Amino acid sequence: MRMQAELPRHVAIIMDGNGRWATERELSRIEGHKNGALAVKKVIEAALEMKIPYITLYAFSSENWSRPKAEVDGLMHLLNQFLKQEQKTFLENQIRLRTIGRLDELPDENCKLIQDTIQKTKQFYRMHVTVALNYSSKNELVDAVKGMLRDAQLGKLNTTSLEYSDIASYLYTKELPDPDLIIRTSGEFRLSNFLLLQSAYAEIYVTPTYWPDFDQTDFQKAIDHYSSRDRRYGNVRPTI
Ligand code: IPE
Ligand code: IPE
Ligand code: MG
Repeated sequence: MRMQAELPRHVAIIMDGNGRWATERELSRIEGHKNGALAVKKVIEAALEMKIPYITLYAFSSENWSRPKAEVDGLMHLLNQFLKQEQKTFLENQIRLRTIGRLDELPDENCKLIQDTIQKTKQFYRMHVTVALNYSSKNELVDAVKGMLRDAQLGKLNTTSLEYSDIASYLYTKELPDPDLIIRTSGEFRLSNFLLLQSAYAEIYVTPTYWPDFDQTDFQKAIDHYSSRDRRYGNVRPTI
C-alpha cells in the first residue's frame, strides 16, 4: 500500500517571475510586482481556506539589493502599501505575521509598519504568515553562529553537547516548523539562498506559471502534488 502524505503543515513559496510577466506584456517590472502582490493575497486566502497553518513567502532576498535602485525603491513602496492595506486582513483572520531576514537594513518606514503588524498579531495562532525580507540562508547561518558565540562566552550555551536542534534555536526560523513543501514559480529549478537548512527534507514543486498568474487553483495543484509524494526521510517504504 502506498503511504499518502497529509496536507503540508508549512508551505514556503519562492514567488518568482514578476519581471518576466511584465516584460511579456510590455509593462514595467514594477507593474509585475504590483500584480505579484495581488497573488500574495489570493494565496493567503487559499491557505486559510485549506487550513494550512504556516505559509512563508520569499519577498526580497539579500541579493535583490543589487537590482536597479528604482526597482528596489518600488518594491519597498509596494511592501508599505501591502502592509497598510492588509493589516486589517491579518487582524480579522487572526493571522500572525513574522519576518525572517535582516529587517533592520530595510528603510525605516518599512521597519515601523512591519513591527506594528508583528506586535498587533503576536497573540494569534490560527495561521502564521512569515515574510522573508532581506533574507539569505547564508547570512542566517552567520547570524546564528554569532549568537551562539556570544551566548557561549556568556556561559549560556553548552558547546560540548551541541545538537542540530541547538543550532536551529538560533536560526531566524526558530519558532517555525521546517517547511514540508517549497513552491517555486516561473520554472526555475533552484533555491536562490532560501531556507537551505530548513528544507533538508522538503518536497519541491516547480511550476512554469509566473507569480502574478499564480492563483488558488495553482496553489491547490501544488498541494495535491505534495499529497501524492512519498516522504521517506532516508528510510525505506513499508512493503505491506
Ligand atoms: C520575483 O520576481 C520578485 C522578487 C525577486 C522581488 P522577479 O522580479 O525576480 O521576476 P523575474 O525573475 O525577473 O521574472
Ligand atoms: C528569488 O528570486 C528571490 C525572491 C523570490 C524574492 P530571484 O529572482 O531573486 O532569484 P534568481 O536571481 O533567479 O536566482
Ligand atoms: Mg526572479
